[in-house]
Amino acid sequence: METKVFKPDEIPAAAALLAAGELVAFPTETVYGLGADATNVDAVKQVYRAKGRPSDNPLIVHVADVATVERFAMPLSETAKKLIKAFWPGPLTMIFKLKPNALATEVTGGLQTAAFRNPDNAATLALIRAAKTPIVGPSANTSGKPSPTLAEHVYHDLNGKIAGILDDGPTKVGVESTVLDLSTDQPAILRPGAITPEAIEAVIGMPVQTEAHHVGATEVPKAPGMKYKHYAPNAQVYIVDRSEDWPQALAWAAQQDVPMGVMATDAILNQNQIPSNCEQFSLGTDIQSASQRLFAGLRHFDTETEIKDILCQAFENKGLGLAYMNRLNKSAGQTHFSV
Ligand code: TXA
Ligand code: MG
Repeated sequence: METKVFKPDEIPAAAALLAAGELVAFPTETVYGLGADATNVDAVKQVYRAKGRPSDNPLIVHVADVATVERFAMPLSETAKKLIKAFWPGPLTMIFKLKPNALATEVTGGLQTAAFRNPDNAATLALIRAAKTPIVGPSANTSGKPSPTLAEHVYHDLNGKIAGILDDGPTKVGVESTVLDLSTDQPAILRPGAITPEAIEAVIGMPVQTEAHHVGATEVPKAPGMKYKHYAPNAQVYIVDRSEDWPQALAWAAQQDVPMGVMATDAILNQNQIPSNCEQFSLGTDIQSASQRLFAGLRHFDTETEIKDILCQAFENKGLGLAYMNRLNKSAGQTHFSV
């Protein structure tokens, strides 16, 4: 099967494929998703096959309106309603308790809950409306690889395995949505994203649990590439923690007799002498641009160069930096450049 690339003015054709049970990748404000009709079990099964993803990992249901959530989920709490009002459409995924047997176990991973998200992308909202069904959407990458922030990334991983890709250019946020569990008494962030714990707390007026995403950071820090390695390029990523570490990190890179990659902000790239064996990939000016470009940079060194080692800049672990560092730590298997 040759994968067809659709532009936003070809939404009816892409929607017809989804409605017929085919897979179509779609843009969101975070990363590209791999779409299938959430109410068609055979279509959902194909998503796991195309990605090479373990089938007990549940999927996010993407909706164009709150009424679709209410069709499947138990009555929404006041907390949920406040968050929907504040952040939808946007990069906040919420986990709700389901009505009995509302969605297939292929969607929920056998849980009594499901994750819902209303993405902030006009083309995809039109796609969902035209297909007349909510769509599941894991990130549209091969399992284990960095998530796709361009239609070209999706094409690279999934050409020949899916029917279509709706191309709406680069994604704005670049890291996946915040996943907030609202199925338990205290709201808990299971995955950090652009909607920060502080922003959520300000809306709901109560504390949010955030430990869940720190588990990986405290366990096996000295065993790179083990259990927590996701978002992994072929190259080994070394995290450079502080801006004052760069001179030594680059001196070390210069001594390696192989091509190396350097991912950092323009300030770091301009302040330091970049050795001739190092190829630069700019992360722009700040945490926003760095998050938007992180996965593209990791993929750039994989697909367009022979580079085996990448030095990549750390950011402070707060705000959007929580999401950036969560993804960077996983892609590096917790490996830091140490002076
Ligand atoms: O930004 C995003 O969220 C992107 C775009 C395409 O929407 N999607 C995405 O999907 O990142 P995926 O499948 O790569 O990540 C979904 C995460 C997984 O960690 C999954 O385990 C968790 O959400 N999840 C889904 N349903 C869940 C549930 N019922 N309970 C707990 N975790 C759930
Ligand atoms: Mg993913």
